[in-house]
Amino acid sequence: MDFKLTEEHIMIRDAARDFAKTELLPGVIERDEKQEFPKELIKKMGDLGFLGMMTSPEYGGGGMDTISYILVMEELSKIDASASVMVSVNNSLVCWGLDTFGTEEQKKKYLSKLTTGEKLGAFCLSEPEAGSDATSQRTTAIDKGDHYILNGTKNWITNGSSADYYLVIAQTDKEKKHKGINAFIVEKEWDGFEIGPKEQKLGIRGSDTHSLNFNDVKVPKENRIGEDGFGFKFAMKTLSGGRIGIAAQALGIASGAYELALDYSKQRKAFGTEICNHQAIAFKLADMHTQIEAARHMVMKAAWDKDQGLNYDLSGAMAKLHASQTAMDVTVEAVQVHGGNGYVKEYHVERLMRDAKITQIYEGTSEIQKIVISRSILKD
Ligand code: CAA
Repeated sequence: MDFKLTEEHIMIRDAARDFAKTELLPGVIERDEKQEFPKELIKKMGDLGFLGMMTSPEYGGGGMDTISYILVMEELSKIDASASVMVSVNNSLVCWGLDTFGTEEQKKKYLSKLTTGEKLGAFCLSEPEAGSDATSQRTTAIDKGDHYILNGTKNWITNGSSADYYLVIAQTDKEKKHKGINAFIVEKEWDGFEIGPKEQKLGIRGSDTHSLNFNDVKVPKENRIGEDGFGFKFAMKTLSGGRIGIAAQALGIASGAYELALDYSKQRKAFGTEICNHQAIAFKLADMHTQIEAARHMVMKAAWDKDQGLNYDLSGAMAKLHASQTAMDVTVEAVQVHGGNGYVKEYHVERLMRDAKITQIYEGTSEIQKIVISRSILKD
């Protein structure tokens, strides 16, 4: 087994590390407080190639492997998980989904702008009553010949108001259950599309999360993705890859918190010595480091499976399950190592602890990952 990163991997990782320190770190506390994410950072990330990393170069993408993508996700997430979720949704749900399953016309029209940061994408599956149970879509798209009429509400949509193009999953034939579901590309400017209230969140507060309403939105038939009835599989396949990105986000949140705790423990003195010299703290650091390394191996393995053309449903779900638990455990301990300072904003670890929780919820809760994992091991 070769665990060595290539020169290209190191270059892209270092570019993300540098960007996170110079561009994301300065305003991260304020963005969290004000619940806002500035558009100019999106463009800068597009210019650096972070928004369409795995997309084919002919549509403006980087044509990079999944390992490169998760290295970038980890580095951005160490500092700002609100920025990295935006990158994750645009890359692995929207761009990958369109690149893999879109028509040539759809790719030319939409993908080229999404990879550069000129436009941003959102993925709209969740509904007030269809979160984990994704087959129970209430949003409908009625076939009218050359177009569909879309009606319904989507909830907790990342990039909700900042996006320009929305991949919307909707029921086209209730009788057919999951085989009567389709995915559509919807443009923000279309009549009947309305951005609902912004969610007031515990963590990733700088990310832009909204509900969306569709009132008789006319969607041309050429904007359906794949064959009629492909929508549920489209959602499942894109989410399988998306889960690797969120696992990398969780890994980044954990390693960011660990690095802060390590540094702090070497500077802060108590009982006559730096606190890292107390076994109570040293053992915490040992546990954190070990858990993070295990998570890193799982995330890398899932990305490697994807790059090799192997099935990654199982390895991706396991990586997300483990890395998100690691993010929770490590950030709680990082706050503890910081003591009272850990509880105030300027030391960053309290934000990372709040951000960690969402990695156990979105793109499938930990319980959903266990469904995917148990079904996979029991079917053999
Ligand atoms: N790849 C391809 N096909 C798949 C698949 C996959 N990974 N997983 C399931 N399918 C197919 C099945 O083969 C089946 O097709 P057939 O009938 O042709 O055999 C069909 O889909 C239905 O599968 P299931 O019977 O397994 O469906 P289910 O109702 O039991 O649900 C589930 C399975 C795993 C629980 C699924 O509903 C699920 O993943 N739920 C969670 C949804 C989710 O992750 N939501 C997150 C929202 S997006 C988000 O968070 C983005 C963001 O903003 C950050």
